[in-house]
Amino acid sequence: MNPTELTHQLIPHENSAVVSTATRYAPANIALCKYWGKRDQTLKLPQTGSLSISLGRHGTHCTIAPAEADSLVINDKHICPTDKVFRRFFAFLDCMRPPQTRLYVQTVNTIPMAAGLASSASAFAAATLTMNDLFGWNADLKTLSILARMGSGSASRSVYEGFVEWLPGERADGLDSYAVPLAPAWPELRIGILTVSDQPKPIGSTEAMHRTVDTAALYSSWPLQVKRDLAALKEAIVEHDMDTLGRHAEHNAMAMHATMTATWPPVIYWLPETVEALHQIHALRESGTQVYATMDAGPNVKLLFPVSEESAVRKAFPSLSIVEP
Ligand code: PMV
Repeated sequence: MNPTELTHQLIPHENSAVVSTATRYAPANIALCKYWGKRDQTLKLPQTGSLSISLGRHGTHCTIAPAEADSLVINDKHICPTDKVFRRFFAFLDCMRPPQTRLYVQTVNTIPMAAGLASSASAFAAATLTMNDLFGWNADLKTLSILARMGSGSASRSVYEGFVEWLPGERADGLDSYAVPLAPAWPELRIGILTVSDQPKPIGSTEAMHRTVDTAALYSSWPLQVKRDLAALKEAIVEHDMDTLGRHAEHNAMAMHATMTATWPPVIYWLPETVEALHQIHALRESGTQVYATMDAGPNVKLLFPVSEESAVRKAFPSLSIVEP
């Protein structure tokens, strides 16, 4: 099954009742237990489950309206139709829009932006929610999570706020692979974003994942890591247990990066400043500060800590951008 067939099964076009314009918002999310590796490239089905926390007011506002021709404006900048961002975005919309429909799409990101930090998750989730309103599908969030997933895997989680789990599913058609909300974020939890580089990353996450699954023998241990971390994280979320949450999130990120390092050719996103920041975080922790690290497919580091540690963490990392999830 391809994404268009799947979408038509979920959203019958006969039901479309287009309105003049629609606008929706979706938050970005940071995975505490990562999605790393696909079992189906086309439908973006994951090898394992994953779990994230949404980033509150840091995300994407999306507006879509019917138009004479397709156009895409990101943060006030017109994107050229030959640009790969444009082609990826409209390939995604093509799967779900009625044929012959042309669309004007405007997205505004409120993520502290630096290349490699902004995730596509909030953009594809916001676009999916907006399409639902524009065409009056009245689809439920489970369906919208499945649709967003076909834009980028992590977008499946961005249709919800708070802690979210993406169930991997087993079916070949991916109808059982969608996100579910777990709990609202804790008011005390803070996420610090440490930008060590704003340069485009050398290799995209899709290619890096693919290479990992194909060439890293170490990847065979990844499902076991996920199983342990998912169980512990879910308990920590219920108990508001910062140490367990931080420990498993950091361990999970380190294990993900270990599988990438073990691919051929190796994928090394870390820069010297990444390693320096990790050492600094470990030293802070040794001295009694509750602070943990996580990283996605890039060199930047995200710090997890309770609000009570905010001044100690800020003192150590003055350039940190702190997010209240
Ligand atoms: O959804 P993608 O294709 O951008 O992949 C996201 C991969 C990670 O950010 C590294 C992990 C995750 O679960 O978000």
